[in-house]
Amino acid sequence: MSINLSTTVGAVSLNSCIYNASGPKCTTKEELENIGKSFSAAILTKSSTLELRTGNPSPRYFENELGSINSMGLPNQGYQFYADLATSMQQYNKPYFISVAGLSLENNLVMLKHLNQVDNIDAIELNLSCPNVPGKPQTGYDFERTQQVLDQVCKFDRHSLGIKLPPYFDLIHFRQMADIINQYPIKFVTCVNSIGNGLVIDVNTEQVVIKPKNGFGGVGGDYIKPTALANVRQFYLLLRDDIDIIGSGGAKNGSDVFEHILCGASAVQIGTQYMREGANCFERIEKELKNLMAQKNYQSIDDFKGKLQSIS
Ligand code: SIN
Repeated sequence: MSINLSTTVGAVSLNSCIYNASGPKCTTKEELENIGKSFSAAILTKSSTLELRTGNPSPRYFENELGSINSMGLPNQGYQFYADLATSMQQYNKPYFISVAGLSLENNLVMLKHLNQVDNIDAIELNLSCPNVPGKPQTGYDFERTQQVLDQVCKFDRHSLGIKLPPYFDLIHFRQMADIINQYPIKFVTCVNSIGNGLVIDVNTEQVVIKPKNGFGGVGGDYIKPTALANVRQFYLLLRDDIDIIGSGGAKNGSDVFEHILCGASAVQIGTQYMREGANCFERIEKELKNLMAQKNYQSIDDFKGKLQSIS
């Protein structure tokens, strides 16, 4: 049986539904080229700021068998670097997405305005949810502010514009955020960023495991899969049908990706597992997903996307 994993992210077609999350190993040209050569269905950059940033002091990333905690602080080469790579990234014959995380609305507007003039960028993922820049709250937790930001950024509409949200935990918050997003020409929503301001502790040393913010950082991996699935599901049910949901959180094998799609994801990003395993993970996870779909007689992701069943 031939199995087709093709999907769409907004107006952008992808040959497969699995690609890298903005975060691990997508900052340098070499890292982005590695993603290009891999089975990742798209190349998504590290969240970029107006100027180059070195980020927070190290150690700023830690992982154990359950997942990861990071407080990278948006180290990146500056958005112009990622814009300048757009043409050379076309050699990999897959979409090139730039993540943008301005330190202010004004910075976001400058970047989006410039990126709007650049060819060969297929979509922009506006990150409204980085928990790791000291003194900068996560925009996605401030509903009024999110509305102000969307009012402004949606004026730049040449590229598919999506937003990356923090995880929500209360049903009223899903509804409130969905009501805001539904007012704008947003093409996709990525659920979720890491769970912000978690704490991982080393019992032996009685110390935190990362240095910035006294050890508080964004938690990813297995720790967050149920939260990520809940966010994918809620936004799939609450957002307009033409807004694609991109799952991100705790996907490390084909079965995890299947769960995200069952909840309503059109594509699934790999973060912690890509950091752990490197770019070979995309081929492995794709194979595992195809095997699972074959067992279930599914030929395309539309055969099960969003079809999660309740217990009657
Ligand atoms: C970071 O660079 O601190 C992580 C980015 C993010 O969580 O949005």
